[in-house]
Amino acid sequence: MSRFWSPLVHSLTPYVAGEQPTISGLVKLNTNENPYGTSPRALAAITEAANDTLRLYPDPTALRLREVIAARYGLDPDEVFVGNGSDEVLAHTFNALLNHEEPLLFPDITYSFYPTYCRLYGIDFRRVPLDANMRVRIEDYRQSCGAIILPNPNAPTGIAQPLLEIEALIRQHPDQVVVIDEAYVDFGGESAIPLISKYPNLLVVQTFSKSRGLAGLRVGFAVGQRPLIEALERIKDSFNSYPLDRLALAGAVASFEDEDWFQQHRNLIVASRERLTIALRALGFDVLQSSANFLFARHRERPGADLAARLREKAILVRHFPTERIENYLRISIGTDAECDKLVEAFKQILT
Ligand SMILES: Cc1ncc(COP(=O)(O)O)c(C=O)c1O
Repeated sequence: MSRFWSPLVHSLTPYVAGEQPTISGLVKLNTNENPYGTSPRALAAITEAANDTLRLYPDPTALRLREVIAARYGLDPDEVFVGNGSDEVLAHTFNALLNHEEPLLFPDITYSFYPTYCRLYGIDFRRVPLDANMRVRIEDYRQSCGAIILPNPNAPTGIAQPLLEIEALIRQHPDQVVVIDEAYVDFGGESAIPLISKYPNLLVVQTFSKSRGLAGLRVGFAVGQRPLIEALERIKDSFNSYPLDRLALAGAVASFEDEDWFQQHRNLIVASRERLTIALRALGFDVLQSSANFLFARHRERPGADLAARLREKAILVRHFPTERIENYLRISIGTDAECDKLVEAFKQILT
């Protein structure tokens, strides 16, 4: 606490990011990064962009990147907004589109940055409980509200919502913005992007951090009809005109164009996820049905905090949230098969 702080700072509850330690030999399954790195074409493009042009500001409109994303989905580049990771895109979204008289709705168990943004921007919010099976029940959102944000698949459960249900939600709230946060959609979810032309109240947010292996480059995007995107641009250009630097723009374009790498590596992660699910169930874990690049699992007998601490002693990091309803769960990012095998081996030792 400091007497020099603006009043707002006292009331913030900042998000706590997963650890990024630099211990050698660490099996790092705590922040849902991609174990395969990124496309070699993206790396080459970044290297090539590291030249004398770095003395110049980047394109403030990120036009080339927006064109590439728009072309993939049959949208206009003006219907695409890009930012410094989807966290920044989400922050601008909360500020630009989700601050209304009535509360914003999101699940009680969800991405824990959402309440943080609400406190930052003074947004009233209401948490809608997941059902007993940790699923989102779309009918529970049939209540008056200012807007809705939902990750699909949800995090940290990994459970995906069928697109028909997402569409029903959007249709039930024609006068509210519905944001679908698709950070993990490439691992088995159904994207709502094809619905954009139909619904002026839909905004879809995605990231390059997970399926494209570029968490370190910080690139995310939102797609929606022009009025929603214009609101985001107005906030961005009142905040930072150049959120994506030249290296990020070059790397993101090349990575988005490398469809073969993308398909091949997401398939590897999905296959490892299914393999790890079976192995953990055999060890006495309840594992939620994941459509993401992580599993959410609890052991039937051992507390989550204890298991996370014991894994840490073996240089394996997973994420544990000391939060009501999920305190016995571990969120385990999908690594390579070799990393998953190390995890299973460690659990075998810990559980005997
Ligand atoms: C649901 C969800 N949305 C958004 C993000 C932000 O990702 P990034 O800022 O790396 O794009 C994350 C990161 O873990 C996430 O879990």
